Amino acid sequence: MPTPLPSGDEVDESVLQIWGKTRLSGHVTISGAKNSALAIMAGALLCPEDCRLRNVPSLVDVGRMSEILAALGVKLQRNGNILDINASQISQSQAPYELVSQLRASFFVMGPMLARLGVARVPLPGGCAIGARPVDLHVRGLQQMGADVQIDRGVVLARTRQQRLTGAKIYLDYPSVGATETLMMAATLADGETILENAAQEPEVVDLANFCRSMGAQIRGAGTNTIIINGVPKLHSTDYNIIPDRIEAGTFLVAGAATYSEISLSPIIPDHLTPVIAKLEATGAKIVMDAPDRMRIIPGSSIRPTDIETLPYPGFPTDMQAQFMALLTLSEGSSVITETVFENRLRHVAELSRMGADIRVKGNLAIVRGVPFLSGAPVVATDLRASAALVIAALAAEGQTTIQGLHHLDRGYEELEVKLQQLGANLKRVSIQTSPTEAEKPATSPQEAKVKPAS
Ligand code: EPU
Repeated sequence: MPTPLPSGDEVDESVLQIWGKTRLSGHVTISGAKNSALAIMAGALLCPEDCRLRNVPSLVDVGRMSEILAALGVKLQRNGNILDINASQISQSQAPYELVSQLRASFFVMGPMLARLGVARVPLPGGCAIGARPVDLHVRGLQQMGADVQIDRGVVLARTRQQRLTGAKIYLDYPSVGATETLMMAATLADGETILENAAQEPEVVDLANFCRSMGAQIRGAGTNTIIINGVPKLHSTDYNIIPDRIEAGTFLVAGAATYSEISLSPIIPDHLTPVIAKLEATGAKIVMDAPDRMRIIPGSSIRPTDIETLPYPGFPTDMQAQFMALLTLSEGSSVITETVFENRLRHVAELSRMGADIRVKGNLAIVRGVPFLSGAPVVATDLRASAALVIAALAAEGQTTIQGLHHLDRGYEELEVKLQQLGANLKRVSIQTSPTEAEKPATSPQEAKVKPAS
């Protein structure tokens, strides 16, 4: 039976209650990478035949991207974590504003649509909680490939001057993940060779390149700072397996370190976690490999402070900054965290402070002075990774934490509560209509907890 596609409209209005100080143990299965899945789903627009994607996580963001593709006339069918996409017919060249405004990654449809149809209209995705996030690098690159691009009343309208886009040598001012992905997808069907210099090297960029190659695209150098794409006239059907989510894996590793718990994870690609492992080891934890795709964290006897600076890959990922901040609030000393990728990604500081953390912010720096303990408190998730940081802080804190704003969490973590409960965490999701007396009772076992899995 096909599984209904998760709907992006299903904004969850419940809260997560977590009773901290429980030692976790056991194994976690890591889902497919959200940021690969979103780009690859858009990439399926390049293909006029069937695309089967495997290991697609069930997430609100994936549901939203599915709705955007469906609105363009694409046929989708989901069966568990398999997503079949057929973009033989693209009946619309305009992505609907209501959907695009909810998901920044929806701008990814621009490159493939322009390459396939010669025209694309995509509303500007706008800013988001973590920063302004312009798309100037995407637009400039497409212009260099022979597209006329205008912005009219908030809609980016792009048209190819020739029948096809033309290959170009493009230097990106910044190794933007999204711009690299947009331009790489556009170049697969362009006339001639495209060279992307100062390209993003993130594993999700490599995954997208491998997906495109599995459809016959000619791409070299993905994973380095120079990607060379030789355009082909047409791509063909594929069956492709998405990589495991390195940020989900990193989040569980940090949860292990913060709660002094031994946890194992699989499947993972250890190379994708190099900066995260290096920093966990700097805090005193040990990481051991039990198999090539299975890793275990052994906590240290205390949490040592360490400085962190977020950078494009292979530097330390901005998507792990908030979770590490939660860990370092409990360290035996001071750490400096510098966020260089997004200009507004320290909003979790205020919430961690409500739990007793000692953090001072100066511009894009956060100075975290370790405290002996955190105390449970009502807190609000401000973005996806901030919500993961609050979950980690709550698991390590004394007493009960109530996290609001779960729609952020559901965007990017598949069945987080279920996975945590399987590790022995004491938490439950409660509808905000639930009476407070009922909500106050802790769940004593995973079976007893009434958990509504993330959609
Ligand atoms: N930027 C520009 N102009 C552009 C594009 C980007 O100035 O045309 C700036 C951004 O404003 C930002 C920086 O460049 O300050 C980095 O942005 P990038 O384009 O690399 O990020 P993105 O493609 O918008 C993806 C992930 C993010 C992740 C970043 C960095 C997806 C769907 N999103 O965003 O994931 O943080 O790369 O690794 O792939 C998350 O999963 O929580 C998340 C935010």
